[in-house]
Amino acid sequence: MTPVPMVGRAAELAELVRRWSHVRDGGPAPAAVVSITASAGIGKSRLVTSALAAFSPPPAAVLYGVARLHTPAPYDWLAAVLSGRDTRELPVPADGLAWLAQDPHAPSERYAPGALLRLAVRTVRALVGAGPAVLVVEDLHALDPASLNLVGELAAAPDLPALILATSRPPDAADSPELVARTLARLSGAPGAVRQHLGPLGPDDVAQIVTQVHGTVPEHLAGAVCERTGGNPYWLVELLAATVGRGPQALLDEPMPGHLRPGAGSAGRDVRESAELTAREREVLGCLAAGMSNKQMARTLDISIRTVAVHVSNLLRKTGSASRTEAALWAVRRG
Ligand SMILES: Nc1ncnc2c1ncn2[C@@H]1O[C@H](COP(=O)(O)OP(=O)(O)OP(=O)(O)O)[C@@H](O)[C@H]1O
Ligand SMILES: [Mg+2]
Repeated sequence: MTPVPMVGRAAELAELVRRWSHVRDGGPAPAAVVSITASAGIGKSRLVTSALAAFSPPPAAVLYGVARLHTPAPYDWLAAVLSGRDTRELPVPADGLAWLAQDPHAPSERYAPGALLRLAVRTVRALVGAGPAVLVVEDLHALDPASLNLVGELAAAPDLPALILATSRPPDAADSPELVARTLARLSGAPGAVRQHLGPLGPDDVAQIVTQVHGTVPEHLAGAVCERTGGNPYWLVELLAATVGRGPQALLDEPMPGHLRPGAGSAGRDVRESAELTAREREVLGCLAAGMSNKQMARTLDISIRTVAVHVSNLLRKTGSASRTEAALWAVRRG
């Protein structure tokens, strides 16, 4: 199925373009910051992609980083940005860069957290150069604490010719709700910052999408589809894909797949029953199930407490557990 055109969000898009023009025209530093919050599948990423396509002339640099579900570690955002880039010319010490890029051969534990943060900011500054640039922080709610701190720091960094676009599910959907809430507050507190909260699509928007796919449809049908999907574009797109090649009535007849039912949580996209854990995470999970503290795990596995904390937080996310106990139960259930 061809992607449905973006509907609605005109005001939000216009505001993003306005912010971009300001940065592009060398408006007063520091960076402009827009945080876009919404629950799963509501269209945060789509809005960002549409905005990037609408920015004219295109940004000199786009630093795009997203929390990566299967390899998260400290500075995951920056590591995602650096991935695949030629970093040899960057004015940052190679071993520091290796650490930030999550290079498996990076020397371990050489940098103090503060020093690493300064290196990370320096790396971003070098990548932004004279700008104007866009920094995309996708899925902030799923980022590690070091990345969150870096993003907060960048939002307040003086003379950074960049627009920061951060997307996030609401803090209560995050592994560390308080940290995410604090980071979002930090972003909103930056001078000239804007927070956009996206709600579901309205019946007219849904009707517009259904019409694009099926031609004219009766109003009551579009209304019923809006109700079935809760105006969530992700569910709508899934429903359209499940009924492709059939008439519009199929949009009402097709049972909503279990994982797509509104209220199934997280747009039902988190595959928790088959979470893919790394070998190290499985070891940490074993220790968790044995009731060890982070300190005991660090000693047993011969890694730092900080690394243990990262593994634990990733485990909680991947297994969809709200607590260590829940993760331990998850481990027990799966032998
Ligand atoms: N305004 C819109 N018009 C048409 N389609 C949309 C719109 N917003 C989102 N979509 C479509 O809905 C689906 C989900 O959108 P998207 O991935 O942007 O959601 P999200 O809020 O980023 O979700 P997540 O929290 O999981 O990252 C995508 O297929 C996207 O193209
Ligand atoms: Mg998204």
